[in-house]
Amino acid sequence: MDSYDDIPYQSHAIPETHPQALAALARLSGIESANPQQCRVLELACASGGNLIPMAWQLPGSQFVGIDLSAVQIHEGQQRIAQTGLTNIQLQTGDILDYQPEGPFDYIIAHGVYSWVPEAVRSAILRLCQQHLSPQGIAYISYNTLPGWRMRGMLRDSLLHSVDRQSAPAARLAAAHHFLNRFEQGLGDIDALHSEYLRHEIGHIRSTHPSYLYHEYLAETNQPFLYRQFVADAAGHGLKPFGDARLHTLFAATLGEHAAEMVEDGDSPLERQQRYDFLVNRNFRQSLLCRSELPSLDEPSPEAFARLALFSTLQPPRKLDLRKAKPQPFTDTHGQQHPVSHPLSKVALSLLARAQPAALAYPELEAQAQHLLMQQGDPRFAAQPEHLFGELFMLYAHQHIGASPEPEAMPSVNLSTPAVCPHARVEAPLGQLTGRHHRTLRLGRDEMQLIALLDGTRDREALLTSLNTAREGKPLDKDWLALSLQRLVAEGVLS
Ligand SMILES: C[S@@+](CC[C@H](N)C(=O)[O-])C[C@H]1O[C@@H](n2cnc3c(N)ncnc32)[C@H](O)[C@@H]1O
Repeated sequence: MDSYDDIPYQSHAIPETHPQALAALARLSGIESANPQQCRVLELACASGGNLIPMAWQLPGSQFVGIDLSAVQIHEGQQRIAQTGLTNIQLQTGDILDYQPEGPFDYIIAHGVYSWVPEAVRSAILRLCQQHLSPQGIAYISYNTLPGWRMRGMLRDSLLHSVDRQSAPAARLAAAHHFLNRFEQGLGDIDALHSEYLRHEIGHIRSTHPSYLYHEYLAETNQPFLYRQFVADAAGHGLKPFGDARLHTLFAATLGEHAAEMVEDGDSPLERQQRYDFLVNRNFRQSLLCRSELPSLDEPSPEAFARLALFSTLQPPRKLDLRKAKPQPFTDTHGQQHPVSHPLSKVALSLLARAQPAALAYPELEAQAQHLLMQQGDPRFAAQPEHLFGELFMLYAHQHIGASPEPEAMPSVNLSTPAVCPHARVEAPLGQLTGRHHRTLRLGRDEMQLIALLDGTRDREALLTSLNTAREGKPLDKDWLALSLQRLVAEGVLS
């Protein structure tokens, strides 16, 4: 039996794999991949569809196919699709080794599988991309990288030794947890660099789902690659990497002067990326590939960024200073703050926050921000669009704001008797919600109950009465409800 049947992987949305995200990055490399609103997507090793199912809801004009070896996980995903009523997605049990899909596909996703399967399956992943990508198609493949992963490999070696006598998956996992506890205590007595690193790694494992420990550290196969090796293997299948889902990693200037100099001395994009990996001790990559013969830029062109549409969840500070180019913190959904300095950028980000979940075309955003700044701030700053460009590009490159090839309008919502979309209704009991832009939010108990009540028949008063009837403690009030509904509007799940 497949170990994923016994210990299913916690399958969830991976924003970097979304066709919109892939298409936006392709545009920066001069590739006109298919319109994400009307495309065909294949996910290899889709587990229970936690990544693919929300995409099928977000992009109703596109078609989605997922396969996975684990019948248990596929069955779980199929049930969720049936409950949601989606008709543009199919999940199938199957082996990548002998899979023969009905291509072509505009986007092929293989996340968390390439390093974790035997060589023959890895070749099959590349072969499937070679045979079934459309001419302008994009493949996303993630894998563990050398030399960085060797450090994680230290812990894997110790863990594999400690579970050696167990064969049943649950017993292996229990033995691994037991070992980690004792190992961490023991390491506490050792004053050495490796001890500090390993304790940090153990903390990282504890912060993740137990299936990660099992399938990352105890997996039968876990093969990291030098980037150079991955590029050679892809070339053997008529594919070339043109970019990376983590855009900032393609710009060495973000590393500091000497590091950037060392990277930029490399005589090819491949050598520059390889040096980058050495410097940052990179242990994971999310490569974007296309057909070798497809013309693409050697390195992404920031200029194309101004032809995209942007969306953002960053919240502005309470009082914006639009008269000085002075850093002010904009807060993301995890509570992390990102300093933004130029008054034009501050206005633009506030406009995006207010328009959530819409994506605004860059030229329109710039014009609106300039207009507002002329009225409300120091008008001299309105004539400095290059600062807006610089700040927004850096926020995008670091994945603090998002981009899509085409603008997206704000959906109209009936806020007097709101209704939540079937996708959110099915997902909410799991304590999570994947929004319009493929981010997963954790839900509290009250929000889960609110979503269950949002069927379009209750006004705000009726919602509060139902929520408070069975509730212990302080009753929920109008302000709580308004904020919660606003959050759901921003995620695009209300209709
Ligand atoms: C680490 S999980 C990643 C799942 C998902 N892509 C994600 O990132 O959430 C690896 C998945 O690969 C699947 N898998 C392993 N070998 C496979 C094969 N030969 N054919 C299809 N799926 C396979 C497993 O069943 C498992 O669901």
